[in-house]
Amino acid sequence: MSFDHKISEYLRENYRGVGFWNPTKIFSHEIGKQIIRMDLNECPHPPSPRVLEAIQLAAIELNRYPDGTCPQLTPRLAVANDVPEETICFGAGSTQLLTAIAEISVGPGENIVSPEIVWRRFQGVYQVVSADVTSVPNKEDGAIDVKGMIGAIGNNTKLSIILTPNNPTGLMLSENEIKEVCYQTPENVLLFIDEAYHEFALHAGGANALEIVKNRKGPWILTRTFSKAYALAGLRLGYAICSSEETVNALRLTTSTFNVNGIAEAAVMAALDDAEYTKFILDDNEREMNRIKAKCKKLGLHYMDSVTNFISIDVGIPNGEVVKAMRDRGIRISTPGYESNGTFIRVSTGLSDDTTAFLVALEEVLQELAS
Ligand SMILES: Cc1ncc(COP(=O)(O)O)c(C=O)c1O
Repeated sequence: MSFDHKISEYLRENYRGVGFWNPTKIFSHEIGKQIIRMDLNECPHPPSPRVLEAIQLAAIELNRYPDGTCPQLTPRLAVANDVPEETICFGAGSTQLLTAIAEISVGPGENIVSPEIVWRRFQGVYQVVSADVTSVPNKEDGAIDVKGMIGAIGNNTKLSIILTPNNPTGLMLSENEIKEVCYQTPENVLLFIDEAYHEFALHAGGANALEIVKNRKGPWILTRTFSKAYALAGLRLGYAICSSEETVNALRLTTSTFNVNGIAEAAVMAALDDAEYTKFILDDNEREMNRIKAKCKKLGLHYMDSVTNFISIDVGIPNGEVVKAMRDRGIRISTPGYESNGTFIRVSTGLSDDTTAFLVALEEVLQELAS
């Protein structure tokens, strides 16, 4: 079999000649070495022991197709969030739901209003639906410009996207900003709020966007994930709460019936049972984040004041060189992904020893590269 590298006309125009970037790829020089992963906003701790036990029990039924409506988890989430069960659906990670949300609402050439600085996966989502995208510049401190987002909505806009907290900035919106965006986004536009880092925002004293968006007159979808605060990125389970059952069924049509794996529901139920472990994760994250911020201050490095499990730091020199030098030292960090030659790096919190290794290596690398 030979690979055809030509641009293929049998593909839809928006899929022709696309590249592929594998964020989890291990380089050949890394195989067998100890690598510190601080590049993917993962939880550095393993899942709760209760989760591991629940997975083992659930695994016996992996010969069966799972019920993707998660009939035990749904009522639990409905009660916890005070929403009807019919307004909840699930995705193989919230990533799957992001694409599905664009697919159900935006046709080719129709408009999406998006923050300019946003998690890089969103660019792929916009490409999938061949959208016309209005990118609204973020404010000088990196925060989403809520007024700018509302002002950018036009006659052709179908979808407006807000993230609180946002990735890669780690910044959350204030209660008033969430109110503004929820109540002033026109009623004919679907408002999508990505809350992948919801638990971190609450832990930092932030607002609960769901309680605000519930009172919006127009349509909305809010997504969350079990990948971050519940240490279950490898499990792939996220959920959407929607303003109508019709929206839920539209999402189900595009994500398909068996999109959720057969152990996910039991694992997440066990994770929710272990609230103490989740608190430990959030407290530990805050401790490690504060260590990173304190060191940045000491080194005179400006950073975005993240409330999440990752932080964007301005290293003052081309970020690609810093990321490469750190990776050569066995520490994986990333660029924020919205500019090809910027000076910000993005690093996720690690275990205490990881933080120490990162901070020592960063100081060395910056000294080396500056000389
Ligand atoms: C802003 C944001 N939304 C969604 C996700 C997707 O998370 P998952 O697909 O693991 O639920 C991420 C992952 O990093 C993210 O940063």
